[in-house]
Amino acid sequence: MKPIFYDVRFIKSITDIKQKPEEALPEVAFAGRSNVGKSSLMNALFNRKRLVKTSSTPGKTQLINYFLVNEAAYFVDLPGYGYAKISNKVSAKWQKMIEQYLVQSKTLRLVCLLIDSRHPLQKSDAQMSDWLNYQNLPYIVVLTKTDKLTRKQYDRQIKLFREHFPDHHLIPFSVSSEQAKTQLSELIEQII
Ligand code: GTP
Ligand code: MG
Repeated sequence: MKPIFYDVRFIKSITDIKQKPEEALPEVAFAGRSNVGKSSLMNALFNRKRLVKTSSTPGKTQLINYFLVNEAAYFVDLPGYGYAKISNKVSAKWQKMIEQYLVQSKTLRLVCLLIDSRHPLQKSDAQMSDWLNYQNLPYIVVLTKTDKLTRKQYDRQIKLFREHFPDHHLIPFSVSSEQAKTQLSELIEQII
C-alpha cells in the first residue's frame, strides 16, 4: 500500500524557534525520551530507511529537524529527554529548546508523545505529559517497540497506560508493523 505520507523532504535543522521555516504549515512534533524510537518511527511512517537519522545510542537527535510532508505539513523530530548519561548542562539546553519550540510554535497542531511500551511509566514521561496538559497542547500517546513484548506483557502494558491516559489516543506501535503504521498515519492525517 502506498504510504499516506509519501512525499517527504528534509528542510532544515534549528536550535531556536526564530529559525523555523518561513512558510507556515501545520506541524506535528515527535517527542519522547532519548532512544524511545522517535526518528525510527518517522522513517517508518515515511517508508524511508535512513532519511531521519537514528542510532542505538541515546542522544542521537540533537537539533529540531523539520521535514516537509506532502507539501502540506511539517513533521518535526525533536531531541530526546531523560537520558542520564548526557551532562546536565546539555540536557538542560535540549530541554529548554524543546519547551521553547512546543510553547512558541503557533502552527503546532499535534504532539506525538512516544513512550517505551516495555516499562512502567517513567518519571520523565509523567512530567512531560503533565507539562503538555498544563500547556494545553494537543497530544496522542504512542507506545513504541511493541514487537519486544509477549502477548501477555502487551495486554498488561496497554491496560497500564490506558489507566494513565484515559483521555488520550493511545497507539501501540512497532516499526515492523504495517498495521500500526497505517493506524498512526491515518490518525495523524485526521487530526491535522
Ligand atoms: P534520540 O534521537 O537519541 O532521542 O532517539 P530516538 O527516540 O530518535 O530513537 P531512534 O529512532 O534513534 O531509535 C533508537 C533505537 O531503538 C534504535 O536502535 C532503533 O533501531 C530502535 N527502535 C526504534 N523503533 C523500534 C521498534 O519499533 N522496535 C524495535 N525492536 N526497535 C526499535
Ligand atoms: Mg532521534
